[in-house]
Formats: sequence, C-alpha cells, structure tokens
Amino acid sequence: MNILAFESSCDETAAAVVRDGRVILSNCVASSVDIHALYGGVVPEIASRKHVEAIVPLAQQALDEAGLTLDGVDAVAVTYAPGLIGAVLVGVNFAKAVAFAAKKPLVPVHHVRGHIAALYLTHPTLEPPFLCLCVSGGTTAIVHVRDYTAMDVLGATRDDAAGECFDKAARVLGLPYPGGKPMDDLAQGGDDHAYALPLAHVEGNALDLSFSGLKTAVVNLVHNAAQKGEALDLPGLAASFGRAVSDSLVPRVMAAAEQTGCRRVAMAGGVAANRRVRGDLETACGARGLQLFLPTLSLCGDNAAMVGAQGYYEFLAGNLARTDLNAYATRELSQG
Ligand code: KG4
Repeated sequence: MNILAFESSCDETAAAVVRDGRVILSNCVASSVDIHALYGGVVPEIASRKHVEAIVPLAQQALDEAGLTLDGVDAVAVTYAPGLIGAVLVGVNFAKAVAFAAKKPLVPVHHVRGHIAALYLTHPTLEPPFLCLCVSGGTTAIVHVRDYTAMDVLGATRDDAAGECFDKAARVLGLPYPGGKPMDDLAQGGDDHAYALPLAHVEGNALDLSFSGLKTAVVNLVHNAAQKGEALDLPGLAASFGRAVSDSLVPRVMAAAEQTGCRRVAMAGGVAANRRVRGDLETACGARGLQLFLPTLSLCGDNAAMVGAQGYYEFLAGNLARTDLNAYATRELSQG
C-alpha cells in the first residue's frame, strides 16, 4: 500500500511516499528555517506562507521520486495536529484537496505519533509494545506505545519542551536558530561539570518534567557574567547544559521502563539527534539489559515519511477522515 503523506506543522514543508508503513519511496523536505533564523525563532505567518509556496511542487517531486502518479497512490495522510495552526492548516487543506480530487482515503496523523513511527522506518523489526521518549521543539513526553495506534503518556513536561530549552539557551549564547545542533556541537570536548545547573523536581507524577528553571538558570548565568565582564567557558556551559537535560530525561525513562515492564526503549523527535542524550540512554539501557531503538539522524526532525509510516497503521485501524477534517494546534497523543 502506497501512502502519499504531507507534513506542515512548523517550518518544514514535507511530502513523501511510503510503502506499507516501512519503506520510504521518496522523502522531500523544503525548510523555511533560514528565514526564521533571522528572527531567532519561527514566525508563524511566514511559515504558513512558505508552506503555501512549497507544497504543490513538493507533492509533485515526492511522486516523481517515487516513480508514481496519483493512480499509484492508495491513500493520502497528513499531519492534522498539533502545531502552528496556520501552518498545519496548509497541509490539511492541500491533503484534503488531493484526496478528494483523486478519490483516495484521507488519513489524519498526530504529529508526535508520526515522530514515533520514524522508528519503524529505521528499524524494520520494531513492533509495539515499547517505551518512547518523545523529545522535540514542541513536545517532551514519555510514551507507552502499547500498539501502533494505542498509546499512553506516562509523563510530560509541565512547561517548556527540551528542544525549546536548547533553542533558548543557544540564543542567549549567540548561537544560530535552531540552537539544538549548535549547542550539541559546542558541547563536544567541553567539561560537562564546568557549571552546576539546576535539575527540576516536580510535585505529583514523578515522571513529569520541567525545563523552564534550567532555561532561566542559563539566561541568568550568561547575563550575570556579561554584567561582571567575566568570560564564560562556552563549551563547558554547553556540555553542562546537555548533561542537565540528559539527567532530567534518562532516569525518568528508566523509571518508566521499570514501571511498565517494557524491555524495549526508544527515542523520537528532533532532540533524539542529541549526542549526549543518545549516549546516556545507550549506557543506561545497556546496564539494565534493555533494547534501545534510536531513529536515524535524517528522520529525527520533521519529515513526511514518518507521517506516511504512521498513516499506514492509522489506516489499518480504520482511522479515516472526511473532507470536514480540521487542523488543531493542540491535541492529546492518546486521542490520535
Ligand atoms: O522534531 P523537530 O524537528 O520539530 C518539532 O516537531 O518540534 O525538533 C526540533 C527541535 C529544535 O528545538 C532543535 O533545536 C532540536 O530539535 N534539535 C536538537 C538537536 N537537533 C535538533 N536538540 C539537541 N541536540 C541536537 N543535536
């Protein structure tokens, strides 16, 4: 079954064709990140306009690279939530039009479920149940993937997402947007104990997280140093920051694995590219004999292949939409 998939929830316009949820026939991405970098973050209105410009040629490119016409497509899948509402709407409206015109089923896909499905493209043998740490610019959650379309959020951030925290810390250090990769690069070779940064403890659910205190701590540290004219050990600060993020995430994932009895652990989303978190998860899983599944780097960030992969399983579960499908800025992962 060939699924033509679209993704437009943030600043990447993406179109792809995926076969049977597991094989990428094409995976095309047009990013407007260079424009947003001028402003230090995504400007929603610009993102929406760039999606409108990019989506038609990108859809054609995805079909061409897959060697297909619309006749060879069995269904159309699209990210319909969560994301920047104007941006998500572009993909949803375009996918609805394609599905209607070509008389194909329309499959709505939750963006974070898509990130999780990137793992099926990387690891052909991976099947639920497993535990997945979902870490991106908008989401930080520990998810029990009970089945392809049945999942529970065991813990989540109460405030900022980990990626957002990376981006804000990078910004105050004068690094380009998006700051996760530059922070990761700067941290290589830095002393991860150069600075003592706070780890948040939240009341209630022990698997919940918080990153706003860490973000504020870095901002204050940089501003205080500037006021006193003190030089900062930038690689040391980036490495200490990476350690703080990882030390917030990894022990909670291990606690969730123990709580659920899951022997398979995975990570998904843009921050899943982070070398410190990947390394620490590998060590922690290795020590407990847990099997770890990481997405290939090219599928960590936003793309449409992951939407096509999840779309296949949503289709099999009968989760189809009609032409009145709407876009949503927020939506529970468990709702689908
Ligand atoms: O998954 P994604 O492309 O978009 C969302 O769905 O949110 O994630 C983007 C986020 C950004 O915050 C970016 O700074 C972060 O992922 N990121 C990283 C790394 N690469 C991307 N964060 C830490 N280390 C990285 N290597």
